[in-house]
Amino acid sequence: MPKPEKHIFVCSQARPDGHPRGSCSAKGCAAIAEEFWYQLQERNLFGRFQLTNTACIGPCGVGPNVLVYPEGVMYSGIGKEQVTAIIEQHLLGGTPVAAYQTPDDMWG
Ligand code: FES
Repeated sequence: MPKPEKHIFVCSQARPDGHPRGSCSAKGCAAIAEEFWYQLQERNLFGRFQLTNTACIGPCGVGPNVLVYPEGVMYSGIGKEQVTAIIEQHLLGGTPVAAYQTPDDMWG
C-alpha cells in the first residue's frame, strides 16, 4: 500500500444522551464519512487519500469535526454538503478551506 498523501479523520465519537460534551455522532458525522467514502471512491482517489473514523479529537461543542493530516487542519460544524469543497480545494488543490476551519479560540 502506498503512503497516502493525506489522511482524513472523521470523528465518529458517540456518547449517551444528555452527556454534557455531546458528540459528533449525535450531530451527523456518519453522513460526512459516507460522503467522503462515496466521493473518494467515485473519483478513484483511495490510492492517494486515506479515510478513517476516529474517536473524539477535541472540540466536541463545535462538531462534527474532521481532521486532515499532514497539515493538521481541522474542520468544524460541517455537513456532507461541505465535503466536495474539502476534496477539491484542500485534498486535490492543496489549499485548506478557510471558511470551514475550527476557530482558533476553541484551542485557548
Ligand atoms: S465528539 Fe467529536 S470531537 Fe469530541
